[in-house]
Amino acid sequence: MLCLRRAGFVSGLVVLSAVPLGAQEYYGDIRPVIEERCLGCHAEGGIAFSMEDAEEAYERHRDITRMVAGRRMPPWLAETGHQQYEGDLSLDDETVVLFRGWADSGFPKGKVTPTSSGPTSPSPTFVPDISVEIMPGMAYQPDQDRVDDYRCFVVDWPGESHGYVTGFRTVPGNDRVAHHTVVYAASPEVSAEFHALTEGEEGLGYQCFGGALPDRLGRRAEREAYEAQHPDGVRELNRNNFWLAHWAPGMFGQSFPEGTGIPMAPGSALVVQMHYYSAEAPGESDEGTVLEFTTAAEVQRPAFHFAQTNNRWLNGEGNGSMVIPAGEQATYAVTETLGDWVGYVAAVTEVPEDEIGALEIHSANLHMHAIGHSGRIYLTDRNGRRETLLSVPRWDLAWQRDFTFVEPKVFSAEDLERTQLTVECVFENPGSATVFGGFGSDEEMCFNFSYIAVQRGEKAAEGTNRR
Ligand code: HEC
Repeated sequence: MLCLRRAGFVSGLVVLSAVPLGAQEYYGDIRPVIEERCLGCHAEGGIAFSMEDAEEAYERHRDITRMVAGRRMPPWLAETGHQQYEGDLSLDDETVVLFRGWADSGFPKGKVTPTSSGPTSPSPTFVPDISVEIMPGMAYQPDQDRVDDYRCFVVDWPGESHGYVTGFRTVPGNDRVAHHTVVYAASPEVSAEFHALTEGEEGLGYQCFGGALPDRLGRRAEREAYEAQHPDGVRELNRNNFWLAHWAPGMFGQSFPEGTGIPMAPGSALVVQMHYYSAEAPGESDEGTVLEFTTAAEVQRPAFHFAQTNNRWLNGEGNGSMVIPAGEQATYAVTETLGDWVGYVAAVTEVPEDEIGALEIHSANLHMHAIGHSGRIYLTDRNGRRETLLSVPRWDLAWQRDFTFVEPKVFSAEDLERTQLTVECVFENPGSATVFGGFGSDEEMCFNFSYIAVQRGEKAAEGTNRR
């Protein structure tokens, strides 16, 4: 498995004194939580073993309590206590304490009561207007030699005129193997090139653990061969694709924050990274997976996913900028001033620089690879005060996602010069070889992706005009 399991973390639980009195029982106390918070994934035909049958699920009481007490299930990487996030899957401290109390009293079952709800149904408010099949008429069988298979498919963006993506979901063809989707948009300049990259590997698409680019370009010899034909090509591919949207099980349709959307040019391509996980369904294929988008011709506040990293790290072996020696822990961080991004923001959102009144930061999203250990994304305001946007105490590649704030962070144009954003990644190298920064699956990355929207208007007053 790519995600390193770290035993011992379970002991890091906050112990609260307010343990409710009286023994907790399965049917009375635990089962309702499982139905509400676990069945979205743990159901027949879901991505993990089913807990729909109450008696069968009870048999797993030890595993269930271990995962809940260690805050490893439901899967939610963000540490609590920093921000309020939309769609937070994590259980509150009281619920965790409830499970521990149940374990302490020996897992009593209590009086059998009929089970009620099933998994939540798709959001009725999400009505897509663009649908794209990722492998029309074909099927892909995930690589059976890997627990996790990251495969990219390249399809054309069907929009014929300029517009904005305002929401997204994946409808998996086979939700027993589809673990998550990240959709990257490749701008028209490189869309043909991304299509051509799918020719280079057997079977549909290409292997792409590290993002939108094929893993093979992370290998020195192949990168050099590629760049001999396309000078500076890897950087160009990288610069011209951006994180558009993502999906993970349990997300039935996500609308971007009201009034915002990501500009899409006709002629763009979608690079669809599917993370397949075959353990629950060996030998099964994916067929008929569809991406669904809501779009708008215009939006009030154009937005984009900002990818924050130190570009030098992507050539960590060549320039020594990211080196994680065998058996060691290493921390890498990059801090940037929001004001330095204004030119870029203007280019990607198509809002002229002098019309940018304020930036709204809506989310944070940490990205590392296999030996990522933990990480943090924080803001430093004009008075030097730090605010943690996202803290991930135990990194797990399988569960990365946007963590969207209930309240966006708003900075007026005047404050951008004095506001900084930092992403800090801690790596732990358990192997016997040095790991460098790079694009390959055995190399490392440290990224933050933030969804940022632009408020138009000169000198918008700070903290006003939020929505
Ligand atoms: C968003 C989807 C999702 C939700 C919600 C979820 N799980 Fe899971 N769970 C998984 C997946 C997928 C696995 C398979 C292993 C993995 O990928 O980590 C899993 C594995 C497990 C395991 C086995 C882990 C092991 O290594 O032994 C247990 C136990 C578990 N989940 C309990 C729960 C409980 C209890 C809840 C609710 C409180 C819950 N899960 C909610 C997706 C989910």
